[in-house]
Amino acid sequence: MQESLIVEEFANAGYQVSPDAVALIGSYSAPDTIVSKVLQSLDDSVLVVGREHLNLDCVKIPEKPTDKLAEKLAEKLSKPADAPAVNILSDISNESTCVGEYSEFVRYFRDRYTRLSGIIRGRITARPIESLRARHSGREYDSVSIIGMVSDVRTTSNGNKLLEIEDPTGSFPVLVRPSDRDIWAIASGIVHDEVIGVTGSITRDGHLMIVKSIVLPDLPNRYNQTLPGRGQGINGSEHGNGDGAAGCAALISDVHIGSDTFLGDAFSDFIDWLGDGSLPVQYLIIAGDLVDGVGIYPGQESELEIPDVYDQYRSAAEYLGRVPKNIRIIIAPGNHDAVRLAEPQPALPEKIRSMFSDDVIFTGNPALVEIRGVRILIYHGRSMDDLIATIPKMSYQRPELVMIEMLRRRHLAPMYGGRVSIAPENSDHFVIDRVPHILHCGHVHTIGIDRYKGVTVVNSGTWQSQTDFQKRMNLDPVPAHATIVDLATLGTKMVKFA
Ligand SMILES: [Fe+2]
Repeated sequence: MQESLIVEEFANAGYQVSPDAVALIGSYSAPDTIVSKVLQSLDDSVLVVGREHLNLDCVKIPEKPTDKLAEKLAEKLSKPADAPAVNILSDISNESTCVGEYSEFVRYFRDRYTRLSGIIRGRITARPIESLRARHSGREYDSVSIIGMVSDVRTTSNGNKLLEIEDPTGSFPVLVRPSDRDIWAIASGIVHDEVIGVTGSITRDGHLMIVKSIVLPDLPNRYNQTLPGRGQGINGSEHGNGDGAAGCAALISDVHIGSDTFLGDAFSDFIDWLGDGSLPVQYLIIAGDLVDGVGIYPGQESELEIPDVYDQYRSAAEYLGRVPKNIRIIIAPGNHDAVRLAEPQPALPEKIRSMFSDDVIFTGNPALVEIRGVRILIYHGRSMDDLIATIPKMSYQRPELVMIEMLRRRHLAPMYGGRVSIAPENSDHFVIDRVPHILHCGHVHTIGIDRYKGVTVVNSGTWQSQTDFQKRMNLDPVPAHATIVDLATLGTKMVKFA
């Protein structure tokens, strides 16, 4: 921390300073005196202050140092952080109830069905599935709607799509033909266990519905058109245009501290940048995989620079300890972090939380938080592995499109039984009940930013260069970027630290 004040002093005077110069100055008992002497000795040609500029022999260190810098530091540390407030709207932490019994799975899926079907019910008038067979009288129903969970998806021998739709009263097969192009496009992306509404005609034998339209829960059109608007946007941002007076949030994820491919210098530059005031950043939100963890994949131990997971978090706490105190840090876990793998994941345990400053906020994964009236849904994004493997045209290079698919389904992890292991909690924490202003994910280590029906979607990349595993999988990460979101306009700006 003392070192960050030295950096700050030089930055205030318009100079950058090299880490070894900072370390040398910091090793003296009166660093503030040295800083002011060095500043007096510099001329305009100097951009970066290095050891060669220190000339410490010329600096007379007082016998009884006043150490104003240290006093200033102590004052800063003892002062309560001037960080803005965060309201956690939904989070599994301390609320987990599940023990994995069968009845819990039934209750979990019932909750998913009830909530998602409730959203769809606002748009179509559906009947219970059991009524289709009970009321069938040998004539063709022309237009019937049902809402259910997709229990099976198949392509028939003549190229049609056959879905099995299930509600609490029964299940029913529905058929989509490729000739109905619009419906076909939707049907091609349908995945197991999502909840959809279908309207169609029932065949004369009463055994099949021919689909005429499919309704996904989706977001209302033109949602979030008005924000708790204050001020203007970030200068030069993609969507905003102004001075950023309402404050910004820096969104990052997948830092992977402890890995031998963690880009420590770039991450350090990012933290220094947070302190230099280029943009009015008030929040730093980390969407999981703060550290690389241990035992996450076979052979990981040979790729770790810090082999102990607690040491990895200690290192993370050191980095984040240099973030200015007026920036509120929010940390959610990911699949590399030291919490249960089954999602929803609770916040990091107290043993780890205690390594960080008291004002860091730890949430579960997923979590919905509200800052300055802006709702941010944080989800690490493990389900993207399943969605990319299943939905046509999805790819690791365009994570924002996968996130839009989550919004269309109003569900962060619709497929059960894939790469995401889902704990059957009392309620389905992945259902997107309250529409966020921002959806922030990570996990795939690539960057994607988009806007869908008023929601800003951000996948925030990584701070790790390509790993051997990614090389083998042909995955090209996009490291060392931070996405800055203007909280007034939801406009975004990408800042690169490579
Ligand atoms: Fe990651």
